[in-house]
Amino acid sequence: MRSLVAGNWKMNGLAASLAELTSLKAALAAKAPVCEVLMCPPFTLLAQAAWTVKDAFALGGQDCSPKDGGAFTGDISAAMLKDAGASTVIVGHSERRQYHGERDGDVAAKVQAAWRAGLNAIICVGETESQRDAGEAHGICTSQLEAGVPAGATAENTAIAYEPVWAIGTGKTPTAADIVAMHGHIRSCLVRRLGEGARQMRILYGGSVKPDNAAEILNLPEVNGALVGGASLKCADFLGIIAAVKPA
Ligand code: 13P
Repeated sequence: MRSLVAGNWKMNGLAASLAELTSLKAALAAKAPVCEVLMCPPFTLLAQAAWTVKDAFALGGQDCSPKDGGAFTGDISAAMLKDAGASTVIVGHSERRQYHGERDGDVAAKVQAAWRAGLNAIICVGETESQRDAGEAHGICTSQLEAGVPAGATAENTAIAYEPVWAIGTGKTPTAADIVAMHGHIRSCLVRRLGEGARQMRILYGGSVKPDNAAEILNLPEVNGALVGGASLKCADFLGIIAAVKPA
C-alpha cells in the first residue's frame, strides 16, 4: 500500500493561492514522491486547480451533498466535484460535524453519494478532548466507523482519517503510542466490519502534522499517510511532509 499525503485547505485560498499548487507541481516533477499526493482546495478553486495541476497530483473536495442534484441551494454534489476535476472527497470532517451538525448517518449518505459519482471518500473520525480524558476515544471512533462507513467500502474507494479533534489546529498531537494504539484499533474495526480486504485500506492521521513531526508520525505502524490542514497551505511546508514518507 502506498501512503497518501492529503492537504485540506479548509476555508482558505483565493486565486492567488494557485501559485502554491504550481510550485508543488514543479517540485514533484523534479523529485517524484514516494507517496500519493492529494490536495483539497475550496470548491471555488477546484476547476482552476485542475487546469493548473493537470495530472501532477490528485485533487479533492472537502465535503459533498448526500443528494445527487436538485433544489438544494448552496450545496455541491459529488458529480459536480468530479466534473470539476476531483477524484476524492473528504467526508465527516470534525468541523462539519461541529459547525453543521453532521451525524454519522449523514456521513454514510455522503460517502454513498461520493461513490455513486465515482469519487473516493476520505472518512474522518476522532474524539474530542473531553472524550479522550473520559477514556472514550476508542469507543467514539468505533461508533463513528460503524455508523459512518457504509457496507461496500473497499481499500480502493475509501480511506479513513483519524483526526483527534483536540489536535486539529492546536499544535498538540497524541503520543506515538496513542496514535499506534488508535490506528490498530481502527484497523481491527474495519476488518471486523468489512473483511480481510480492509487490511489494505489506508488509515491517515490528521491533526497538527508539520514538517518537523511528520517523519515520526508518518512512519508509525498502521499510519498510511496524513491529512494536513494548516501546513498544506504553503508548498514548502507540504513538501516537507511529503519528503518525510519513507518508501514502503
Ligand atoms: P491541522 O493540520 O491544521 O491541524 O488540521 C488538520 C485537519 O483538520 C485536516 O483535515
